[in-house]
Amino acid sequence: MRPPVVLKSGRNFYLVNEFEGELHTHKGIVRLDELKEKRYGDSVTSHLGVEFKILPFSAADFFRLFRKKATPVMPKDIGMIIAHTGLQPDSLILDAGTGSGVTAAYFAYFNKYGEVVTVEKRPEFAEVARENFRMAGLKNIHQIVGDAVEVAEGFKREFDLVFLDMKNDVEMVPVAYRILREAGFLAVYNPYIEQTKAVYERMLEVGFRDVESFELIKVNLEFRRVGTRPFTDIFHTGFIVVGRKI
Ligand SMILES: C[S@@+](CC[C@H](N)C(=O)[O-])C[C@H]1O[C@@H](n2cnc3c(N)ncnc32)[C@H](O)[C@@H]1O
Repeated sequence: MRPPVVLKSGRNFYLVNEFEGELHTHKGIVRLDELKEKRYGDSVTSHLGVEFKILPFSAADFFRLFRKKATPVMPKDIGMIIAHTGLQPDSLILDAGTGSGVTAAYFAYFNKYGEVVTVEKRPEFAEVARENFRMAGLKNIHQIVGDAVEVAEGFKREFDLVFLDMKNDVEMVPVAYRILREAGFLAVYNPYIEQTKAVYERMLEVGFRDVESFELIKVNLEFRRVGTRPFTDIFHTGFIVVGRKI
């Protein structure tokens, strides 16, 4: 079976994993069997004469092209968590909840020799994430459907990183502390300040150290003839709390 490819035309990206039939886009219809003889970097043309460049489906596309049910964490925030926690490629990571699986996929991608355990309470979301992981060719993700607090209470293994993007994250903090190895990290992502403060305080209470809370703002630059100015499509995404079991 061929790996999926990405068709790009201007600012539009399309994920293709079938090489028969047609792809209908607002820039015209592309015949998918034409892709079989092509290589990355080649182009195909729609019936309206619009060119689409053929690119490999890579980690750079996870956020953009994964099917989404729940709101995913953005790459800027995932990148920060990976760097801040010094993620190594042979780690054991717990990700709760899975949502669309974007965060779990990036963790799995950068954790090639390790494992990501991801827990989601809604089976229909877990199903969408499962399909996303399959498309991305990620085999080191173990999915569990259930309430993350209950599921994690039963874990006997020691995790290097626990990441929470779920409703009852405050309740999960002491459980995370128990299942982390010494010097392991807990990172919590939440869009609301009140919940973030509650997580921060609970983390100090249960014994986490080096606890920090922050938000990352991504500001783009727009270069025009008249001058350059900053702009941002999305100002606020979420707050991150990171702490360490030391
Ligand atoms: C915002 S989404 C997570 C998005 C995900 N981090 C991503 O990047 O694609 C939050 C998810 O947590 C799930 N969830 C909420 N509380 C949960 C719990 N106690 N146990 C497991 N999953 C939970 C929700 O059903 C939802 O799918």
